[in-house]
Amino acid sequence: MSETLTVLDVIKKSTDFLNGKGIENARFNAEWLIAAALDLDRMQLYMKFDRPLSDQELVDMRSNVVRRGKREPLQYIVGHTQFHDLQLKVDPRVLIPRPETEQLVELIKDSYMDSAPPARILDLGTGSGAIALGLAQIFPESVVVAVDASKEALEVAKENTSGNDLTTRVTLVLSSWYEQIDESERFDLIVSNPPYLTAEEMDTAEPEVKGHEPLNALVSAEAGMRDLFEIISGAKMRLNLGGSLWLETGIAQRQALLGSCSSAGFSNCEGIDDWSGRERFIRAQ
Ligand SMILES: C[S@@+](CC[C@H](N)C(=O)[O-])C[C@H]1O[C@@H](n2cnc3c(N)ncnc32)[C@H](O)[C@@H]1O
Repeated sequence: MSETLTVLDVIKKSTDFLNGKGIENARFNAEWLIAAALDLDRMQLYMKFDRPLSDQELVDMRSNVVRRGKREPLQYIVGHTQFHDLQLKVDPRVLIPRPETEQLVELIKDSYMDSAPPARILDLGTGSGAIALGLAQIFPESVVVAVDASKEALEVAKENTSGNDLTTRVTLVLSSWYEQIDESERFDLIVSNPPYLTAEEMDTAEPEVKGHEPLNALVSAEAGMRDLFEIISGAKMRLNLGGSLWLETGIAQRQALLGSCSSAGFSNCEGIDDWSGRERFIRAQ
């Protein structure tokens, strides 16, 4: 007869296993993985510590834990992540949205505290749709055009758009940056978290990033700034008067990018740090 294991037993065993594999926050990971295997959310789990697992549930949980032990990202295994107030589906077709990007969305929200919200927003390199959907949720009157050059990423963004009931206000476009955006179109806000890592940074990235996340979402030429330069140089002519450009960037890129914003004709360009004091955002008006 096989041993009966409860939720708590499995959390403890999985935590030990993941600790042994060098996974940070092993207990947190174990709780997420078992919640996914049992189709519960993490809070419900705390009320079910004594619940025994069936043989099939144990098989599912073991498979989840083994995948995590091989450094597959937690979010790809459970199949979703939280971004702002949204639940987003994520899989290897898209980058997993980062906390810094949530901060970017918050900064943008705060910047409109005393002024009219942006009527038309362009999100360049939308991936899972995180920024586009986050802003559509924050600004209920705005319409958003969300662009990506990856057809696969747009399939995920499409599911997230309908999953969050935002299809009437968010339009997805397959395009390399501005290519498929009509030259006559104007926006009040252009935002982008484009690829900005150098090849060297990618080489030393965590196995979760290096082995699993899409390369074309991460790496850019010219010290990581080729895509940023392209986005900056095309932004001004597509912005309405008084409109702004917001960018998430790599950490050693601020001076070069501020220079590029000035050359592109923006009169007011500033760098903004993230919560941990790193140079991560640019705003240009
Ligand atoms: C760093 S990811 C950001 C994803 C998402 N916006 C987020 O913040 O989580 C960059 C995205 O840019 C897209 N991308 C890369 N090159 C592109 C290009 N030339 N034109 C449009 N999108 C591009 C990638 O497919 C990827 O989805």
